[in-house]
Amino acid sequence: MLAVPVFVDIDPRTFNLDLAQVEAAITPHTKAIMPVHLFGRPVDMTQLMEIADRHKLIVIEDCAQATGAEWDGKKVGSIGHIGCFSYYPTKNLGACGDGGAVTTNDPEIAQTIRSLRNHGQTGQYVHEAIGVNSRLDAVQAAILQVKLRYLDQWNHQRQAVAERYRQLLEPISHVICPQEVVGGKSVWNQYSIRLPRPADIVETTNLKWRDRVKQALMQQSISSTVYYPLPLNRQPIYASLGYHPEQTPVAEQIAQEILSLPMFPELTQEQQEQVAYGLKDSVFQVVSEY
Ligand SMILES: Cc1ncc(COP(=O)(O)O)c(C=O)c1O
Repeated sequence: MLAVPVFVDIDPRTFNLDLAQVEAAITPHTKAIMPVHLFGRPVDMTQLMEIADRHKLIVIEDCAQATGAEWDGKKVGSIGHIGCFSYYPTKNLGACGDGGAVTTNDPEIAQTIRSLRNHGQTGQYVHEAIGVNSRLDAVQAAILQVKLRYLDQWNHQRQAVAERYRQLLEPISHVICPQEVVGGKSVWNQYSIRLPRPADIVETTNLKWRDRVKQALMQQSISSTVYYPLPLNRQPIYASLGYHPEQTPVAEQIAQEILSLPMFPELTQEQQEQVAYGLKDSVFQVVSEY
């Protein structure tokens, strides 16, 4: 039987799940909690594991965007019962194609995962479950083995880039920068700012405030991306679960405000200054158009 996902709203400071809402969503049917360390910023795993232990639940960490991130000095993916990693090319540790890994300290879970990644095979040509073809391609593995040596260095560079962005962008009106949360060490897969529409501005066209700023940025050849325009619980695939926007108002609001700026380890101070000046100009331009 397929599991039914139950969503809770997000924390506006971290864009991660709102831990204050997790406990209320737990029912006798609940089997596991799946925190996503979104954009490379870790969930408060101390609090989350306390909740999970109290209810004897498995924790599956989604570390796809957070390889190398830490909570309270421990790497994400080593705190819950299972950690899931993606090596898609845009990730902090990216292959040249698809790839991923699952971590666990539980030998039984490890055996199940090993079997499931190979069509449920448990012995040569013996299949005890319906699995998938999710073997890590040898070429990707070879590439990842080399790139792994540089992961810490690249993550430190991303942290320096994020700090420079904070200094450059914090003084700009109508821009909210992401903050590092005490206890967490982010690896900044994305640097995502919030652009809340100023209270005195009324939207007169279909194009939203944030999208107009994005467009103005593009006119200066600065690309930016909306991760993500639609909250997960309102994706068409989950329509049958019947979620309404009012149930997750923070996720709805952040989806209207979020904008991810260029972020990669080699981004230079000069390039970041260009982004900051471009953003300041764009916000000013859009304000004056209303
Ligand atoms: C948060 C998150 N979870 C899961 C995934 C899925 O990873 P993959 O495409 O390697 O299966 C991604 C990849 O985009 C992701 O960003």
